[in-house]
Amino acid sequence: MYILGIESSCDETAVAVVERGAKNSVRAEQIKSQVDLHALYGGIVPEIAARTHCETIDLLTSRALQQAGVGIEDIDILALTQGPGLIGSLLIGLAFAKGLAMVHDLPLVAVDHIAAHIESPFISHQEIAYPLLALVVSGGHTSLFYHEEKFNGRVIAKTRDDAAGEVMDKVAKHFGLGYPGGPLLDKLYINGDPKKFTFKIPRMSDGGADFSFSGYKSALLRQAQKMNIQPHSQDFYDLLASFLSALVEYLLGKTLAAAKDLPVRSLIVSGGVSRNSLLRDRFSEECARLGIPLYLAEPNYCTDNAAMIAWLGYEKYQAYPDLNYFDLHLNSYSRAQFRESARHR
Ligand code: KG4
Ligand code: ZN
Repeated sequence: MYILGIESSCDETAVAVVERGAKNSVRAEQIKSQVDLHALYGGIVPEIAARTHCETIDLLTSRALQQAGVGIEDIDILALTQGPGLIGSLLIGLAFAKGLAMVHDLPLVAVDHIAAHIESPFISHQEIAYPLLALVVSGGHTSLFYHEEKFNGRVIAKTRDDAAGEVMDKVAKHFGLGYPGGPLLDKLYINGDPKKFTFKIPRMSDGGADFSFSGYKSALLRQAQKMNIQPHSQDFYDLLASFLSALVEYLLGKTLAAAKDLPVRSLIVSGGVSRNSLLRDRFSEECARLGIPLYLAEPNYCTDNAAMIAWLGYEKYQAYPDLNYFDLHLNSYSRAQFRESARHR
């Protein structure tokens, strides 16, 4: 079975073809990153994102089909990111996918973007066992989920303010380093001493398990101001390395604490920030030490992509074949609403 996946929730337009059933593989993936366009503004401009999706989505679809060596008539299912995301960006994907589905009489499966991030390590590890704990850590989200089985899970912690990637992006922007900040901090890490500065671990006043990241950013900026630290000085590199290390240890500590409290057979870490080298090393080290089976998303599938959408679209179609998939509405809830409702499917 061939599934064409479409992702347009934020600033990446992506189209993938995956093969599922007797064979399970990603046959093609075409991604147009808009990073260069948004870098000029130090963050994502929704209007530019939507227009760029509009300009590229049909070309990427033709290229993905060509790369996979199939025609649209060979496709069995369309899978589309339904949300959460930017409304203009989601609408372009929805309009395009609905058109394709109508013309070619194809089922159109709506996929939740966060659930697809959780699914992403399954692309290379179909053996992942339930129950699982999943840390989804990106520019828009930082949440821990517990899934007893596929399509049966709950959120156990979420950020109450910024997402982990978001604070990295904001810090990089503040110092004029560029956008997105996560990959830049990743690269600069080796220049600094991660033990030079310490950061206080946030505690929720109500004792809840949620995350909070905005205090890390304020503490870093306060320290830079207090010591008059100039960009690209040794103190600057030490401060950035200490900041990144503190964020990673915080994510690791909270994830391992949750894994201790619950019966967990697998730990998944996915989303854009899971591409971070230090994070990958530290999670790998600690999970090996504690004997927790860890599944990190492959680097290509950490940041937004359509392969994860197609992969989960297939699973959803198998699990719920009778849904009226053509009666699609957009899941346009905002980040704040997302944190409230913390939907995962
Ligand atoms: O998953 P993603 O592509 O989009 C969202 O759903 O948010 O994640 C983007 C985020 C950005 O904040 C970016 O700075 C961060 O992932 N990121 C990284 C790295 N690569 C991307 N953060 C740390 N280290 C990286 N290597
Ligand atoms: Zn994402």
